[in-house]
Amino acid sequence: MNYTIRPTEPGDAAGTAALRRMPGVFETTLGLPSCRSADSVSFLSNLGPNDHHFVAVLEDGTVIGTASLQVCGNPRMRHVGEVGVMVHTDYQNAGVGTALLKTLLDLADNWLMLVRVELTVFADNERAIHLYEKLGFEKEGLKRMTTVRDGKYADEYMMARIRTPQI
Ligand SMILES: CC(C)(COP(=O)(O)OP(=O)(O)OC[C@H]1O[C@@H](n2cnc3c(N)ncnc32)[C@H](O)[C@@H]1OP(=O)(O)O)[C@@H](O)C(=O)NCCC(=O)NCCS
Repeated sequence: MNYTIRPTEPGDAAGTAALRRMPGVFETTLGLPSCRSADSVSFLSNLGPNDHHFVAVLEDGTVIGTASLQVCGNPRMRHVGEVGVMVHTDYQNAGVGTALLKTLLDLADNWLMLVRVELTVFADNERAIHLYEKLGFEKEGLKRMTTVRDGKYADEYMMARIRTPQI
């Protein structure tokens, strides 16, 4: 499979929205089946200097994955960032999520010098937890009944990766 990872562009809004409402993706992210392309247009056009957003795209422009890193705006938390990753159902379990997360961590480690990268993940999302632990994240605690999923309240793990910058 040939795909490229690059920063998100305005023209990726429809493909990004399609992922956010895609069965097999929206349940384990915080998307809804009603996510609109207009929401993604607005989201992408309002990204600021602390927001870093990438897409994985096929040669024909199809968006098969997205990844985001948001650096904390609080001046005393400039060393902290939060990440999120999602991959098109047809392309999951083929290394795309790993490649996207590595792209974010290269940015976090080598260009932003972040110390702490954090995320939340549904407690039963075993594939995602495996991916995060593979790349150095550790579970820090369980948040109980934080979100709604398919008619029930669901728990999430807080996970983080701590890296002391080299001098
Ligand atoms: C979670 C997600 C981002 C991972 O991306 P991906 O491209 O599917 O993942 P990769 O192929 O890069 O890696 C998957 C890894 O999990 C492993 N894996 C697959 N299913 C698994 C399972 N049920 N339990 C444990 N590990 C599993 C694979 O073997 C692989 O590990 P390896 O690289 O050590 O061989 C993607 O599946 C996705 O978007 N899921 C829906 C949305 C989502 O849950 N996003 C994360 C929200 S926190």
